[in-house]
Amino acid sequence: MPLVLDPAAQDLLFREARTANTFTDEPVTDEQVQAIYDLVKYGPTAFNQTPLRITLVRSPEARERLVRHMAEGNQAKTATAPLVAILSADNEFHEELPTLLPAFPQAKDLFFSERPARESSAALNAALQAAYFIIGVRAAGLAAGPMTGVDFEGLRKEFLDDDHTPLIVVNIGKPGEGASYPRSPRLSYDEVVTTV
Ligand SMILES: Cc1cc2nc3c(=O)[nH]c(=O)nc-3n(C[C@H](O)[C@H](O)[C@H](O)COP(=O)(O)O)c2cc1C
Repeated sequence: MPLVLDPAAQDLLFREARTANTFTDEPVTDEQVQAIYDLVKYGPTAFNQTPLRITLVRSPEARERLVRHMAEGNQAKTATAPLVAILSADNEFHEELPTLLPAFPQAKDLFFSERPARESSAALNAALQAAYFIIGVRAAGLAAGPMTGVDFEGLRKEFLDDDHTPLIVVNIGKPGEGASYPRSPRLSYDEVVTTV
């Protein structure tokens, strides 16, 4: 067997994990989110920059403000999910670099003194971390509903600031009635992999 991960864990994280569009009422606790973060924070990023920032939208008032910025087809599920997280990239991540990369503290000034370099690096690496986060949600026995059908500029003004770029909004909870669409096909290995 080429995969060493327990087959049940493979199913939980990938084969049987589905994107959820409806949820039960079961709450998602801060303890669960902390356990998810404390696992996925070990996923790799360039220079260990870890630019992902997570805003948990819990209060009914904040949820209402969030829903206004969602595409129409995403509004009902975002209004009713037990928890919603805004995943954003911190474009000023370089301030933490000397702490996060003690072996090479010069990286901050060598590579990230210019804002455009920081923005492109933060976008890539926070997106990687967003993927780790979604898999972490699954590892907690929960389902994620990631969404980019969002007015991101409106969302940024509502919840963030100019130093943060929102990337994905994620509904989180236990899947409810009819939570998933029929599974869509995936590209096969031969369609994707080229060896040179
Ligand atoms: C980055 C990203 C953005 C997405 N945006 C939306 C969205 O705005 N609305 C929506 O209903 N689904 C959205 N999806 C859900 C995808 O369509 C879904 O994850 C994909 O079809 C795989 O479904 P499965 O996990 O059930 O196999 C998004 C997924 C990702 C990863």
